[in-house]
Amino acid sequence: MPSAAPHDRLPLAFGGDYNPEQWPQEVWQEDVRLMREAGVTMVSLGIFAWSRIEPRPGTYDWEWLDQVIGMLHEAGIAVDLATPTVVPPAWFYRAHPEALPVTREGVRLAFGSRGAICHSDPDYRAAAATITTRLAERYGSHPAVVLWHVHNEYGAPVLTCYCDTCAAAFRVWLRERYGSTDKLNDAWGAAFWGQLYGDWDEITPPRATPTVVNPAQQLDYQRFADAAARANFTAERDILHRLSPGVPVTTNFMVAPSQCQGIDYWAWGREVDLVTNDHYLITDGRRTHVNLALAADLTRSVAGGGPWLLLEQSTSGVNWQPHNPAKAPGQMARNSLGHMARGSEGAMFFQWRQSRHGAEKFHSAMLPHGGTGTRVWREVADLGRRVAGLADLRGTRTRGDVAMVWSWESWWAQDLEWRPSQDLDARERLDAFYEALYDRHLTVDFVAPSALSSVDPERHPLLVVPQLYSAPAGVAADLERYVSRGGTLLVSFFSGIVDEHDAVHTGPYPGPLRDVLGLTVEEFDPLLPGETVTVRTADGGTYTADLWSEYVVPGDDCQTVAAFADGRTAGHPALTRHPLGEGTAWYLATRLTGADLAAVVDLALADAGITPADLPRDVELVVREGESGVFRFAVNHTETEVKVLLPDGSRAAVPAGGVEVFRDRR
Ligand code: GAL
Repeated sequence: MPSAAPHDRLPLAFGGDYNPEQWPQEVWQEDVRLMREAGVTMVSLGIFAWSRIEPRPGTYDWEWLDQVIGMLHEAGIAVDLATPTVVPPAWFYRAHPEALPVTREGVRLAFGSRGAICHSDPDYRAAAATITTRLAERYGSHPAVVLWHVHNEYGAPVLTCYCDTCAAAFRVWLRERYGSTDKLNDAWGAAFWGQLYGDWDEITPPRATPTVVNPAQQLDYQRFADAAARANFTAERDILHRLSPGVPVTTNFMVAPSQCQGIDYWAWGREVDLVTNDHYLITDGRRTHVNLALAADLTRSVAGGGPWLLLEQSTSGVNWQPHNPAKAPGQMARNSLGHMARGSEGAMFFQWRQSRHGAEKFHSAMLPHGGTGTRVWREVADLGRRVAGLADLRGTRTRGDVAMVWSWESWWAQDLEWRPSQDLDARERLDAFYEALYDRHLTVDFVAPSALSSVDPERHPLLVVPQLYSAPAGVAADLERYVSRGGTLLVSFFSGIVDEHDAVHTGPYPGPLRDVLGLTVEEFDPLLPGETVTVRTADGGTYTADLWSEYVVPGDDCQTVAAFADGRTAGHPALTRHPLGEGTAWYLATRLTGADLAAVVDLALADAGITPADLPRDVELVVREGESGVFRFAVNHTETEVKVLLPDGSRAAVPAGGVEVFRDRR
């Protein structure tokens, strides 16, 4: 049961993780003074503080926390109070070593870092419930506490445990799902490689085995692990709702990076009162601002299109990559306002004060080792002022232009072993199509396969399906309805291949998508590393494709827009267009990148009647609107000033590397 609308209680948030337990008391006064100076409105408190709150079993030390919360409150700083259940104390593990997770290979991980949790362990669950209850009893009605922060980043660094307790819990979960071992055998296709089960107790987690484990077993274990962690979240949430009514409950997601790929955020988004996300720039040679925009769009989509909050990002460099560049001047503000453009109700950081000790001491913070005489501090204080000036933004919603399907379940399935090519990569295609749309300055609303019936061609004239290897029942009918009502659909290869058990949809590929696409695929023919083929359009243009080719057989009313011009599939369609009802369904049967992929996306955009804004590359124009008016965020990632066109026909300047927010009042 969700709590009150979160933005009624929360300030427009600016602040970060605050870990006063790492510092002597003398520092706290200075912290609060400097927080005020920087315009901090909220901090996330106590995330890793269990061993400080409960130093011995059942002995609680509240004094320090009372004092810190009191000081913050006096200074007008709101508290996002954490349940510290991501790191139980050493005494807990000494008494309950079986709460430590076990790897696939049977190695029990040790205490000494963080997040070492077996989510099925009953002692862990009981201890988590107790500490949550104590915290909620003590601070549940404290006026400073405006948000509860359960745990930290479920799924990272470990989600899945393979211990005996998990094995038993998995069997219970399977029993509820299938009812009988016969049904399970059917769903898992267990006759393959002689894996038929006659008794629930014969079933184990997908532990280390001589070769590939049954894919359906792996998928169910993934679902089970996700559900076990989610059950621990909801258990804490329910305690908080009971003891701290009206205060919203969140847990910080990490929707975009692959560390948390095991979490199905569509399901989690329904359980929190406020969706919050953590986002860090990954230095891998790609454009970090495109990944940031994707993460923000995805978080907003998980939040049902409504407001959400960026709970963590870095002010400058992180410390956990092989190389950790500092952010350039202005980049932190661009990142923060970029998230806010896409729906975040503020910008928060990890962390307030840079640590002296521990594994993260070289990770940047709002208050760096160098103190207030630093560029980072000056930029933090500037940003605090900027965020404060945007208070009216609260409650407004970002306007999405196009829709794209995102499925964690399909990603899990596709990334299993022994696919037609080991270079198939669902995430790579999602990123590539997103980037092509980003380069046309379009804002993307992501949609779960189960929510496709809600996509309205009027609101979202283009729907992109970059890779939906695993397509659940119902998807085909929803897509057909979308297209017949006038939508433009763009589907890329290796979609619609299996059901939720990784069982191939019978009949020719692409199973349930055959009718909407107006074609069949007779056989896949993946390309070898380094191998490319040419794709030629009817008007003689060419694209260069790699990774994948296949034998497409178009139906009568399906047009071949481009065909493979060389390679083993020469002469067969590579890009098709199928008019259906009032709309059109496009299919791309190979991998295109860069300008070639953009050209195909442009064809679909033209069919959809979408004319992209006339802006230079790496300039974003994102709109938030609501009762307080329309806010146009122009984010300039380039090194030169740009001019953006406003609705009144005027052109407004956005400085190099800067962000401007243009308002039309209502
Ligand atoms: C986050 C985590 C923080 C901190 C940060 C460093 O994933 O929630 O506690 O470790 O990474 O970048």
